[in-house]
Amino acid sequence: MKDIKKCRVLVTPTSYGQTDQRLWTELEEHVGEIIHNQTGKPLTSGELSKLLPGVDGYIAGLDVIDRACLQHADKLKVISRYGVGCDRVDLKAAREKGITVTYTPGANSASVAEMTIALTLALARKIPQAVEATRQGSWPRLNALSLEGKTFGIVGLGSIGKQVARRLAGFDCTILAFDVSPDQDFALLYKVSLVSLGELIERSDFISLHLPVLPETRGMVNAGFLSGAKEGAFLINTARGELVNERDLVSAMEAGTLAGAALDVFTTEPPDSDNVLLKMPQVIVTPHISSHSDGALNAMGWMALKDCLAVLRGDTPANPVP
Ligand code: DGY
Repeated sequence: MKDIKKCRVLVTPTSYGQTDQRLWTELEEHVGEIIHNQTGKPLTSGELSKLLPGVDGYIAGLDVIDRACLQHADKLKVISRYGVGCDRVDLKAAREKGITVTYTPGANSASVAEMTIALTLALARKIPQAVEATRQGSWPRLNALSLEGKTFGIVGLGSIGKQVARRLAGFDCTILAFDVSPDQDFALLYKVSLVSLGELIERSDFISLHLPVLPETRGMVNAGFLSGAKEGAFLINTARGELVNERDLVSAMEAGTLAGAALDVFTTEPPDSDNVLLKMPQVIVTPHISSHSDGALNAMGWMALKDCLAVLRGDTPANPVP
């Protein structure tokens, strides 16, 4: 086992160690120096270019880790992604430099699924409008929707999509799912009907995205996708902003095809202040916090820490990105 006492580790997730301070003490105990993210936000490639020289290990938030900044990584052995999505990491460039990339599969699935259900209920029951109206001193009789008897479409029945389906089981709604390689046994067990994407779009009252950003999924929620949606349907996105063409989403809501949306993620994060989606009353917006709950933050923190230290020591990490 290598001595890692002189190693320098960059830690960028702003929520790292917030729920469990031992994540910091454990790191301090084992490595020589910790470099903190002073910006309070995910880092840009330019910011990383300045921080990466001399760094051995890197516990990474939602930073833009592209080829340009990796040119400055002269000692880096490991990028330990604190989360599941690796779409902001240039995996090819990292591999070419011999840098191991790890991630935390499953760590935040329950948390993201809970947020998906919370956003769905907030949309259906008009909770933000009700809160605002009550605060303003009015007492409106808002007409809301119940999930009971409705159809919920899960696009992507992976780890998070499955957790959503399990939680929906008690709502007495029809659950549809589309996945390129669906788990038939799971679907049978949780009464999920596996359908084509087209059928899911056409039949669902709520469409929820649970997919990674890949060349084939980037911008998939576009005018064509949305034109197939049931009138009055809602879109929930707790996955990645890049899955959605935001301009087409705005048009679909302006045209009334789509009744509203709940978005925890955006193509640019934080979104520009003039992003129309921030101003539409039928849209609920949150700041990419689906994985920000106690259990998920701790699980992501410990998994990321352990794999970062493992690679620095010359051991095999538990969760290398496949
Ligand atoms: C993920 O797992 O990628 C979440 O977006 C949090 O980083």
